[in-house]
Amino acid sequence: MNMNFFVNTRLITGVDCVKNNAEKLGSYGDKCLIVTGASSAKKCGALDDVMFALDKTGVKYEIYDKIRQNPTVESCFEAGRFANEIKADFIIGIGGGSPLDASKAIAVVAANPDISEAELYAMNWENQPLPVVAVGTTAGTGSEVTGVAVITNSKGFKKSFRNDLSYPFLSLGDPKYTVSLSDSFTRSTAVDALAHCVESFFNRSANDISKAFAVTGVKKLLKVFEKIAEKSTDALDMNDREQLYNASIYGGLAISVTGTAFPHALGYFLTENYGIAHGTACAVFLNEFVDYNAEIMPELTDEFFDEIRYTRDDFKALVSKITPSVVVTLSDEDIKNLSVRWENNAALKRNHGNVDTAFVNSLLRKLF
Ligand SMILES: [Fe+2]
Repeated sequence: MNMNFFVNTRLITGVDCVKNNAEKLGSYGDKCLIVTGASSAKKCGALDDVMFALDKTGVKYEIYDKIRQNPTVESCFEAGRFANEIKADFIIGIGGGSPLDASKAIAVVAANPDISEAELYAMNWENQPLPVVAVGTTAGTGSEVTGVAVITNSKGFKKSFRNDLSYPFLSLGDPKYTVSLSDSFTRSTAVDALAHCVESFFNRSANDISKAFAVTGVKKLLKVFEKIAEKSTDALDMNDREQLYNASIYGGLAISVTGTAFPHALGYFLTENYGIAHGTACAVFLNEFVDYNAEIMPELTDEFFDEIRYTRDDFKALVSKITPSVVVTLSDEDIKNLSVRWENNAALKRNHGNVDTAFVNSLLRKLF
């Protein structure tokens, strides 16, 4: 099997890693724009740690805290032009996938303030993006180690770009930031990480390296999932939190090679139209995805379950227990209206076999 791997990020994780690496965090220039959501970066202590590190190294900063879940391209343009105005040398994103992905787009706009939305997505960038430092505060996205940004476009659809220039220069992940997350958010982000690993493993572009990352991530997640299923997310200690965080990084490394597959491609409409949290929206398709691959890729499926040392039934039962429930009903008309999304969908082409509109429609009819 051919190998193909590139990750251009210095990754440092561990309790207090932001404070302990102030020199590195402050080494990308004299001024930066900190990008966060409304309150989580403050609540979890990450913003305080970042400001401490910047004050220590004498880096000046401004804060843009208007990034919301499923960040809009408009907010990325607003923040990017602001970063350009204040002459920021680099961007620090603090948060889960939304602020981290937004930071990658903001870094592009900051260096190219006059580009259009179409040019942003088409990666028609004259100047290289500013350096991005990612401070992860959830255990799910994996955005810390990918060059991917998923941004909601001006038509309300999630749309991504993926570029070697968009890997964070530095990613810092302190598992203590995840303690303040709610039970459902902890579950949703954890099953997002699981979906990244599984979708990467059963992916046309998977190779030995990405599969090794995916298997390691799944094994770490399942151990913690057993504890959550038996008790609750309140029972997680710092070691469990660290395992979840590290697993999310393995998931990110795996999809940095392969991209995702049909659970992510299908999950987007549940987030856009029904407000379902991203990880949950993707993970509701995960058991179907496993069964689909068992049917058409039996040897690969055996390899997967041998590697993770789980039976398919036990795996599926645990995924169902951990994934927050989704109550959505789709009429035939709803399913028909969605079908435009499945034609020429790049993520659907990354699946083994042929995931076409007819397949998706019957899956949606079955699940919703
Ligand atoms: Fe995801």
